[in-house]
Amino acid sequence: MASNYYSFHTLATLLITPLVLGTLCVIFPFFCIFRIVLFLYRLVVNENMKGKVVLITGASSGIGEELFTGVKRALYKYGSPTHNLPPLLRSSTRLTSNFTTMASNYYSFHTLATLLITPLVLGTLCVIFPFFCIFRIVLFLYRLVVNENMKGKVVLITGASSGIGEELAYEYARRGSSIVIVARREEQLRKVAEKARSLGSPDVLSIRADVSNVDDCKRLVDQTVNHFGRLDHLVNNAGISSVCSINDVTDITTFTSVMDINFWGSVYPTYFAIPHLKKTRGKVFVNSSSVAILYPPSLSFYTASKAALIGFYETMRLELAPEISITIATLGFTDSEIIRGKHLKDGFLQVESELANVR
Ligand SMILES: NC(=O)c1ccc[n+]([C@@H]2O[C@H](COP(=O)([O-])OP(=O)(O)OC[C@H]3O[C@@H](n4cnc5c(N)ncnc54)[C@H](OP(=O)(O)O)[C@@H]3O)[C@@H](O)[C@H]2O)c1
Repeated sequence: MASNYYSFHTLATLLITPLVLGTLCVIFPFFCIFRIVLFLYRLVVNENMKGKVVLITGASSGIGEELFTGVKRALYKYGSPTHNLPPLLRSSTRLTSNFTTMASNYYSFHTLATLLITPLVLGTLCVIFPFFCIFRIVLFLYRLVVNENMKGKVVLITGASSGIGEELAYEYARRGSSIVIVARREEQLRKVAEKARSLGSPDVLSIRADVSNVDDCKRLVDQTVNHFGRLDHLVNNAGISSVCSINDVTDITTFTSVMDINFWGSVYPTYFAIPHLKKTRGKVFVNSSSVAILYPPSLSFYTASKAALIGFYETMRLELAPEISITIATLGFTDSEIIRGKHLKDGFLQVESELANVR
């Protein structure tokens, strides 16, 4: 599985990426023209807001207030009496005083941005993209040849009881690293630990923990450092998927676990590991997903949690440099329990095909 994974990614970087980027460079200008035409059309043809009811949260100041101003103006223009508004809007009416200056600034800025800045930025991108693409390929080839020596280093991997995390544990083991494997299923972890030792890892520590629990995350970092005295790589891999259209949701609160595990389950261990990683000039790896930029239907909560990871760790990249470096993976389909049907459906963990040993 690991070698399939690497050959797929080599192929993707060497062939598919330039192909996709090249196609984008051709399509982008047309897309840009289409957006400008659509924007101009929408400037002229406005939705008739007469008699419609708008609910705006955060309307007591700033953008919310100005959006409301637009609505109020529409209502005034079409003569709707204010007392017909729902209570939220009625109270905001009192807070709104100046409804011309900021709103008109806002609209003229956006007109300018769409008409001038967008084509300028896209045009510049078309010129820069091919060079960026070449740079990425050269960097990728360089990294294929010059690997970090992992012998004697300590790696903590969350979600190592199956799938990608398990394979990463074996890959680190082959390179002579000591590893800490984390998940909720102890029996699975025991098997992974045995195999990792047989592949060459000098020491493997298994820790049963739930990454959505902040105390568990502190404990697993503390245990790692107490046992090995250092931490070099933190691999934030644990995750769950959820497959459900928003139309079929019966209890929205049951989906919070997706964010708790996928987002906070990466952020908590990172937070506690930072002081130790700074000492070793270590690395943080985070397993986002290609869905974070592709937005497939029925994966909204999963997509949001993975997109949040990109936002958070891109910021971390700046805040933690140069002591700690960050790698964000946006993988596509990879054979694992998630792909074989283990996911939240309508908020509950379900296994849609025969999977042994899955909770
Ligand atoms: N497979 C793909 O196509 C794909 C593509 C892009 C990204 N990813 C991401 O890759 C990561 C690994 O997924 P996978 O494909 O290898 O699926 P997987 O085989 O289901 O692995 C998920 C791992 O996360 C662990 N886990 C789940 N919830 C946990 C929790 N609350 N606390 C601790 N560990 C937890 C699971 O162990 P326990 O159940 O024993 O706790 C398991 O080891 C996920 O973040 C996933 O979103 C996968």
